[in-house]
Formats: sequence, structure tokens, C-alpha cells
Amino acid sequence: MIKRKRGRRKRIRFDRIFLVLIIIIIIVSIIKFINYIRYNNKVYNNVVNSNAVDVAINKKYNKLKLYNKTIDLIKSDNVSIVINDKKTNTYLSSKNVKKNMNLKVNTYNQKLKYKNFPNVKSFFIENTGIIKKSDKVEIKLPRYLTKNNIVDIYGVKKDNTVNEIYLSEKVKNGKVNIKPNKNYKKYFITYIKLDDIKVKNMTVNKGSVVNLNIEYIPSVATVRDFEYTKIGDIFMLNDNERIVAKKTGTDKITIRHKVQNIEKTITIKVKKEENKIEEKDGITYVNGILIANKTYSLPSSYDPGKINEDASNAFQEMKEAAKKDGINLYISSGYRSYETQKEIYNYYVEKDGKEKADTYSARPGHSEHQSGLAMDLNIIDSSFEGTPEAIWIAENCYKYGFIIRYPKGKDKVTGYKYEPWHIRYLGKEIAKKVYDSGLTLEEYLGIDSKYKD
Ligand code: DAL
Ligand code: ZN
Repeated sequence: MIKRKRGRRKRIRFDRIFLVLIIIIIIVSIIKFINYIRYNNKVYNNVVNSNAVDVAINKKYNKLKLYNKTIDLIKSDNVSIVINDKKTNTYLSSKNVKKNMNLKVNTYNQKLKYKNFPNVKSFFIENTGIIKKSDKVEIKLPRYLTKNNIVDIYGVKKDNTVNEIYLSEKVKNGKVNIKPNKNYKKYFITYIKLDDIKVKNMTVNKGSVVNLNIEYIPSVATVRDFEYTKIGDIFMLNDNERIVAKKTGTDKITIRHKVQNIEKTITIKVKKEENKIEEKDGITYVNGILIANKTYSLPSSYDPGKINEDASNAFQEMKEAAKKDGINLYISSGYRSYETQKEIYNYYVEKDGKEKADTYSARPGHSEHQSGLAMDLNIIDSSFEGTPEAIWIAENCYKYGFIIRYPKGKDKVTGYKYEPWHIRYLGKEIAKKVYDSGLTLEEYLGIDSKYKD
């Protein structure tokens, strides 16, 4: 009897433990399920309500199975998912959202240990390979990087060389964007304070653009901008905010760093440089640059027969670069002989009268097209102004050795109306100098463009 009783008691105890376990399992499952529903609803609502590009998800849920409807929404809206915890942020862009998300990009804070960089704490992002090149990843920055509202983003290559990606990038809502590139094994985002500026006194030629010799310490300081606080009378600021030395003499320029409040004064001597005007076989060269304008003509016998070879190669290089930006450039008019120009000019004189024709068409012998160094691109009429092609040419042609020869509002100086399509080959070095100066070729060389009669 007793034995039997004990046996029953044992069975009862065992049954109870089993029951308690079952209940615990059920409770845990219910809590998990409620969490799953609550959290998934939260994520779904975040996605629905956010017109913004990211949805923050706490890291402990990063293995969470998202609702299919959430995933569809993320994919269709092209939002990216940000998984946060205190130490690391992990980013997944919409294209990589899987039903079970895993850590794909790691971030951490570390001091910089690269050549030329000071030992400052920076934010690193390591792409473990899942995020594709086309995906834009939004990075939430740690607070120490958001207070200046501006950061520099660098990419680190496999051999540990560092490349600039975006300098002085604006921080928006504590975030910046990075477009991953397979050349970089990781990125770092940093703010490097400027300690000092070093300047040197200098001597320049009258009429030239004054390129101040400024050394930033450290050279990789994040904000490398300064403003002019004082400019001596012998200088002027041109339309491109460049300083041009307009008179001879000695004067001072004071600059101030925009953020750090460091001020420096530079003494500059402006000397007169006489233009070297030479004539060879009836062709005028000013400081070695062939000139064909209303003052200086080309002999009627001068007939290179085609576009200059260097100019032609430079155009090909420019055309390919433009193509990469989705811009199609083509030459509508290149080399024109003396005879062709004569026909063109006479046609316009008949059409519009001599006075008007002279504002847009060169007389025979006075056209740059006869030199083989000029070309008209794409559309040769005023409808070309403001098109993406015209804007691209204006912003980039100097990089390939060309200048816009007849800029807007300079009719009195060049002798011609604005021609956004007409470019002149000068070679990369001089084209950049003329472009930087913001001057026409006539102003840059200090020459006229006027017919004698
Ligand atoms: N349209 C330019 C000025 C030329 O005829 O050469
Ligand atoms: Zn032209």
C-alpha cells in the first residue's frame, strides 16, 4: 500500500514538473510571438510612415523575420535598413533585405594611423562584400562627428593607400551617404581640425590671377576654406571670386579661415610683364599663342587644311569624358578655309547687313576657324545656350585644353556675341589659366579685338 502511495506521489510530482515546463514554454513562446508581432508592426509602421530613407532597427532583432509586406515595401520604396546598437551600426540597403537579416557592414571607432593624417578618432565602415556598388548606404554618424555638420569621407584601398571620396560633406540629420565601391576595403569618416595656416609673400605679373600660396596644417584639415578680409587697391576680385592683379606696385591681402578664425596677411608685389608679340609668316603670336581676332588676321594663304592634330586628339578625349556623363558632343564646324569663311561672311552680310554680321561672323582672314584651332560643337545657334551639353562644355572644356572663346557679356572685348558652342584650343596649361582667371583671351593677354575700319 505504502509503496503504491509513494509511486503515485512520484508520478504526480513528475506530471507537475512536466506541466510547469509546458506552461513555461508556452509563456515564452507567447512572449516571443507578441514581441515578434509588436516589433514587426513597429518596423512596418516605420517603413510606412517614413518618407525618409532609413528605418532604425535594434540590433537584437537583426535576425528577425520581417513581414513579407514590409520587405516588399522596403524594396519598392528603396529605403535602407539601419540596425543600431551602442557599439556598431549595421546597414543593409533595400536590395539586400533578406527574410533573415544578417550583419553585412561593420562600423567602429578608431584613431587614424595613415600617412599625413593626425591621430584623431574617426568612424570606420567596413564593407564585408554584400553591399553592391550601386547601393547607396546611409551612415548614421556618432555624435562626435555630427557637431561640426561637416565631415570628410575617405576610402582605404587594399594596399592601405587612402583616397578622398567626399570632402566637406554636409551631415544631414546626423547622417551621410556612401556609395560603396569595390576598390575600397573600408572607409573612414573624420573631422580634422585645422591648427594653422602658413602663407608666403609673392611676386606676380600684372593682369595675372593671384594664386595664393597657402599651406594648411595639417594638410588634410577638414575645412580648407578661407575668405578675404582685406584686399589692397591694386587687386580686384573677378566674377569667379579670383584675385586679379590689376596695377603694378606692392600691396597686402588678408585672409581668414572661415571656421577656426585664423587670420594671415600676405604681401604681394605686382610687376609689369610686357607681352611678347611676334609675327611669323604673317601670323601673330602673343606670348606664343596664335591670335586670330578682329585686330590680328591670318594671311589668306594660311591653310592648315584640317583641324590641328593636338586639338583633334583633345576633342576626342573630351568627347569620351562627356559620354561618361551622358553628354554627346560632336563637331559641327571645325577647320574653315579663307575662301569658305569669305562665303559665309558674305552670306550673312547679305542677309543681315554688314554691321550686324560683324557681331557674330568673322571677316575672311579674321576667323579662328582658319587656324584649325577652333571648333563649333553641337548646335550653332542661340538655342544651344543653357542645354546640358552647353553647360558641360562651359564647366569642363578647359580640362581638355579648350576655352569658350566668346563668353557672355564680353561682346565689346572679343568683338563677338556670346557663342556657347565655339571653343578654342590652347593646350591644358594655358586653358586652365585662362579659365581660372575668368577673363577672355583678349583680357588675359591684354590685347584688342577691333577692325581698323
Ligand atoms: N563665329 C565666329 C566669330 C567666326 O566666324 O569665326
Ligand atoms: Zn566658331
